[in-house]
Amino acid sequence: MAAILQEAARRRTFAVISHPDAGKSTMTEALALHASAISQAGAVHGKSGRRGVTSDWMEMEKARGISITSAALRFEYRGHMFNLVDTPGHADFSEDTYRVLAAVDCAVMLLDAAKGMEPQTLKLFEVCRHRRIPVITFVNKWDRPGREALELLDEIEERTGLKPTPITWPIGTGGFFHGVADRTADRIVRYTRTPGGATKAIETDLSAEQALAELGGDWERAKDEIDLLSAIGSDHDQKTFEAHESTPVLFGAALSNFGVGRLLDAMVDIAPAPTPRPDVAEDPRPLEEPFSGLVFKVQANMDPSHRDRIAFVRVCSGRFERGMVLVHAATARPFATKYAQSVFGQERATIDEAYPGDVVGLVNASALRPGDTLYDGPPVEFPRIPSFAPEHFSTARVRDSSRSKQFRKGIEQLDAEGVVQVLRSDVRGDQSPVLAAVGPMQFDVVKHRMAAEFNTEILMDRLDFGIARLTDAESAPILARQRGVEVFTRSLDGVLLALFTDEWRMRGVMRDHPDLVLNALLADT
Ligand code: G4P
Repeated sequence: MAAILQEAARRRTFAVISHPDAGKSTMTEALALHASAISQAGAVHGKSGRRGVTSDWMEMEKARGISITSAALRFEYRGHMFNLVDTPGHADFSEDTYRVLAAVDCAVMLLDAAKGMEPQTLKLFEVCRHRRIPVITFVNKWDRPGREALELLDEIEERTGLKPTPITWPIGTGGFFHGVADRTADRIVRYTRTPGGATKAIETDLSAEQALAELGGDWERAKDEIDLLSAIGSDHDQKTFEAHESTPVLFGAALSNFGVGRLLDAMVDIAPAPTPRPDVAEDPRPLEEPFSGLVFKVQANMDPSHRDRIAFVRVCSGRFERGMVLVHAATARPFATKYAQSVFGQERATIDEAYPGDVVGLVNASALRPGDTLYDGPPVEFPRIPSFAPEHFSTARVRDSSRSKQFRKGIEQLDAEGVVQVLRSDVRGDQSPVLAAVGPMQFDVVKHRMAAEFNTEILMDRLDFGIARLTDAESAPILARQRGVEVFTRSLDGVLLALFTDEWRMRGVMRDHPDLVLNALLADT
């Protein structure tokens, strides 16, 4: 039992949240390089013809250069086991992005120094806020002309409400990035680029005298700014960080590996290790209890050569051993774990044991859905992962009616994976479900996967709805009679959703029928 607690304490499970192009792939490479999970930067990057591991399993991914798969990269650093859970990079990709955040204990918010807080960063940050996930901020691309560091801090504070507490402070700006002052370790570190950035950057410690002599005005300016930060109390505070009230900030350049090692050190020193996860009754399951885990993602057909379906499980308590027979809480059926793997893109390795914080890929997991619990020993069920408010709606039909069976099977599959939400109504009938998405690109994925995996071409027509509200059986028939409103049952959980063309229409209906039940879905709260 002590071994489980010890193993849990050395786990760091996190995600990088960022806007596309801020440097997430580059950062992932740099982190893995630092931790020696891979030998040379480039191995996890899917772009520029380098060996793609993250994202080359689907043609569409290749064409768009986006990562559709989410999985976890494991690496060891300073005696700690890191699980970096990948979030798909594209702006409006899907609910996946949000779901993976149910599996992490901490997030690294990656900002482009020239762009600051961008829309997708903010959206993902909101999920972290909702789940109270502590956030470490890394200001990337400091080697390029960007904004003033103090100005960026103001923006972070304004947009997130968190107090920024810089751990490192940059010396030099706009392409003259000499190094950082490490405020907590009381060091001045000079960075020297290595050719191509493909190996670790060289770090040299400087004394204050050396900094002044070698970096002159840039050091003096950094020093003044640091004095200002200290004067206003912008210092790291573990309590407020864990309470989601402050965010430690680091500066660097993932491309040249500047500041990446420091980020890993910060993760070891201050990022939270797994803690007992509350179950549906809000009783935390102690880490040392027998195995329990949460399915946060299900992905089918990752490997085109054999049809498989992988459920990604975050270990919440106990020790996982490959071959264990677990209980699937939703059905009370046994679930065998003979084929457990760690998966990152196409790279797979068999995993024999895992501890709280680790991510295990279970192959042939056709019964598992995102949000499901698996356990051994005393029964437990974790709260389901909330699904997000869809804002985009489209009908889906099969082009060739002889493929109706495959169409049904495919839609069911994509629904179970959570690629889209599937809505049905008596009015539209079984052959014509409505698909609901958080981001419109989810529809492209459905179309592509239906063709590629189920050999079924589908026709889609976008519907003029923009807003969904939860309703009940009493309100539903009244709502269904209103102009610009349609009511559906969501296949996944059987809840009733009323769709409105827009906010204005919804307010009109609410004004005329004040007693109707219309509740916001998660993203609106
Ligand atoms: P993403 O996954 O968040 O979408 O971003 P990605 O890592 O692909 O980085 C986006 C672009 O920003 C890439 O350039 C990358 O090389 C560059 N970049 C990332 N980090 C840094 C940094 O610290 N400094 C500088 N100067 N650039 C950085 P690209 O030309 O679009 O792609 P590529 O052809 O180099 O892959």
